[in-house]
Amino acid sequence: MPAIITGWGNCAPPGIVSNMDLATIMDTSDDWIVERTGIRQRHVSHVGSGDLGAVAAQRALAAAGRDPDDVDTLIFASVSPELLVPSTASLVQKRLGIKDLAAMDLNVGCSGFVYGLAVANGLIASGVSRCVLLIAAERLSWYLDWTKRDTAVLFGDGAGAVVLEAGQPDEGVLAAVMGNDAAAAEALMVPNFGTTMDRVNHDMLDLTVNFDGREIFRRAVKGMTKSALAVLEQAGVTIDDIRLMIPHQANRRIIDAVGHKLGVDPERVYVNVDRFGNTSAASIPIALTEAMEHQRIVPGDLVLMPAFGAGLSRGAALLRWGPRAEALGASSAELPPATETGLEIIRRHAEPMKARLAARPGG
Ligand code: UT7
Repeated sequence: MPAIITGWGNCAPPGIVSNMDLATIMDTSDDWIVERTGIRQRHVSHVGSGDLGAVAAQRALAAAGRDPDDVDTLIFASVSPELLVPSTASLVQKRLGIKDLAAMDLNVGCSGFVYGLAVANGLIASGVSRCVLLIAAERLSWYLDWTKRDTAVLFGDGAGAVVLEAGQPDEGVLAAVMGNDAAAAEALMVPNFGTTMDRVNHDMLDLTVNFDGREIFRRAVKGMTKSALAVLEQAGVTIDDIRLMIPHQANRRIIDAVGHKLGVDPERVYVNVDRFGNTSAASIPIALTEAMEHQRIVPGDLVLMPAFGAGLSRGAALLRWGPRAEALGASSAELPPATETGLEIIRRHAEPMKARLAARPGG
C-alpha cells in the first residue's frame, strides 16, 4: 500500500530577522529583497537543526496519535546536520528516547523532503517499514556568509516533520520523481567543509556558500515544472485536479513562474516564503503544516509538491490526502528559550567576518 501522511508538525525558532534588520548590517534594502524574492523576514535559530527537528517531530507524532516508539524508521533531510558523525537522525532518535529504529540522514538540498517522501513511500510499500518519521530541518544561518548580500538575504531556519504509514489503494503518495544534474553542482555549493577541508589552515569564518543565483533560478523553474508534469502524467491526472500545490519556497518569482508554466490557479498555490525565506529541505513540510492548520487540505484532495535544490537536485511528489485531515493530538514540546534575538545571533557572526575580510591584503 502507498504511504499516507498521518501526522504533521513544524517548528520555527523565535528569532525573527526582518529585511530592515539585515539592512543594518549589509548593503541591502527591504525594497530590493521584496521585489526580487518576495521575502520579508526569516527565522534565525539559537539551536541546532536536530533540536528544531525534534520539536517538529514531537508535534507530528502527536498529530498522528503515535508514540515515539511506534516509529521504525527515522529519516532526517538536511544540508545543515548538527555533526558530521553520527547522523543527526541518530541524535534526534536519542532526544526522542527511541530505543531502536533505522536512522538515516538525507542530504539532497532543498529537494530533501520530496526525496524523503519517495524513500518513505518505497519502504512502506515494500513492507520494510511500517511507520516512518520524516523530518526536514535546517539551520542555514549557521553557515551563511554575512558579507555576501546575494545569498545572506535568501535563507532562513526552521523544521517540519511528517509521520507516514500505509494507507489504502489510490491514496497517499500516488507518484514521485527524483532527479539530479551533477554537471551544474557548482552553482550551489559549500566548498572546503568536510574531508576536502585543510584542517591545519582552516578558518571557520571562511565558510561560504558558492551560489550562482541566476543559473539556479533558471534551472529551478525548469526542474520543478518538469518534475511536476512527470508526476501528474504518472498518476494520470491534470493540473486542474490539484487542490493545493505546495512548492519549495525559494523565491516568490520562482513559485509564480512554475505556477504559470503549469497553469495552476494562484489561489491553489501555498506561499509562505515572505515569512520564512528559503528554509531548504524544511520549506515544504513547514508550509504543509500551516496548510493543514488552515484547513487548506481535506480528505481525498490531490496535493502536488515540486522541489529543486543543491545537487542540483529536483523532484516532485503527488499525494492523495488520506482519510483524516485533523490532528489527533497536540504536543507541548518547545525549544529552549533563546537568550539572543535573531539579529544579535547574526551580528555575533557577521562582525568578525567583516573584520577578518577587512584585515586581509586588499580588504
Ligand atoms: O532553493 C534553491 C536555492 N536558490 C535560490 O533560492 C536562488 C535562486 N535565485 C534567485 O532567487 C535570484 O537569482 C536572486 C534573488 C538571488 C537574485 O535576483 P536577480 O534578479 O537575479 O538579481 P541579480 O543577481 O541579477 O542582481 C541584480 C543586482 C546586482 O547589482 P548590479 O550588478 O546590477 O549593480 C546585485 O549586485 O542586485 C544586486 N544585489 C543586491 N542588491 C541589494 C544582489 N543582492 C542584493 C541585495 N540587496 N541583497
